Amino acid sequence: MVEDEEKGEMVVTPWEVSGEIDYERLIEEFGTQPIDDQLLERIKKHTGELHPQLRRRIFFSHRDLDWILDMYEGGRSFVLYTGRGPSGPVHIGHLIPWIFTKHLQDVFGSKLYFQMTDDEKFLVKPELTLEKTNSLAYDNALDVIAVGFNPKKTKIIMDSESGGILYKLAIRIAKRITFSTIKAAFGLEESSNIGIIFFPAIQAVPCFIESHLEGENVPCLIPAAIDQDPYWRVTRDVAPKLGYYKPAQIHCKFLPGLGKGGKMSASMPETCIFTTDTPEEAKKKLWNAFTGGRPTAKEQRLHGGNPTICPIYHYYYYLFEPDDKRLEEIRWECRTGKTLCGECKLRLAERVGRFLTEHQKKREEARDKIEEYIFKIKD
Ligand code: TRP
Repeated sequence: MVEDEEKGEMVVTPWEVSGEIDYERLIEEFGTQPIDDQLLERIKKHTGELHPQLRRRIFFSHRDLDWILDMYEGGRSFVLYTGRGPSGPVHIGHLIPWIFTKHLQDVFGSKLYFQMTDDEKFLVKPELTLEKTNSLAYDNALDVIAVGFNPKKTKIIMDSESGGILYKLAIRIAKRITFSTIKAAFGLEESSNIGIIFFPAIQAVPCFIESHLEGENVPCLIPAAIDQDPYWRVTRDVAPKLGYYKPAQIHCKFLPGLGKGGKMSASMPETCIFTTDTPEEAKKKLWNAFTGGRPTAKEQRLHGGNPTICPIYHYYYYLFEPDDKRLEEIRWECRTGKTLCGECKLRLAERVGRFLTEHQKKREEARDKIEEYIFKIKD
């Protein structure tokens, strides 16, 4: 999967995503299943109207989602599992799968394990101390809570503080994974530190925590961006060897950054809207964004713009215009040159500003709730 980056080729690993991303090809190369119309119909029976992220194929691929539905329809509940590697502040791209996970929690009444991998980010980022990743984990948890997960059904696992249960399950998992498997799945080198080699066992643990605590197998569904897939391939291999169900996955695409191509990334702050940006800061970044527009207003009125390559349009598509009919209007007005980029950006900035203000209010309220959400070791 790792190809020559200089050519702008696609690279999708848990630790690097770059180049032009071909999601169809990822389905093939990762060996996952597309979410087809038939599966969507089945989901719809349980959720009512489909969530925009499903309708718009932002969640586009899966493994064993049909099996999760079989189990659910047979009266079995399942747990949800997702997570975050706290290497910096949270941006709106991170919120996409969390918002969807909350929707799943609401409609299926599922318990959620949310893993904060402060250990992983400490291990893979040479410049970060454990103190730093741990404090980021607490900071990022405010954003998780602000998304609105049910406090009675949500447990945030702070990896570096959850030794007991994490470690006991992780060594059982690790014993059944070989170095060559990890090397092949993650592209590690001889010079990689041994913490990174062990870490996939830690990320596998939350798939099985509920089964471990309940003393019987509980199915697990992981909503996550597709770059996390190597972890799940390894986890699925080892699950039956430990007597657990294989975890199921539902994979999403990446929110593009505000520049030309590429996903939103905290390492390019000018192309990235952080959840703590003020509405004015966000407006400025949006104003400076790359668009699918023409060089001059005259040309745009004559020939129209290209929403397909435009991050501004994508933000409406991913999050800020849930109404399909209105979204289609935005698209059409762009294509026909009816709306110019400035106007389109300002309209989006207003929505983003409102979203940020609301999110930041909930984020502040989360400070008093954080203890309620933290997973405490009982083993
Ligand atoms: N490795 C993920 C990251 O770097 C964090 C993570 C842990 C995660 N467990 C997860 C993400 C489960 C999605 C689902 O962001």
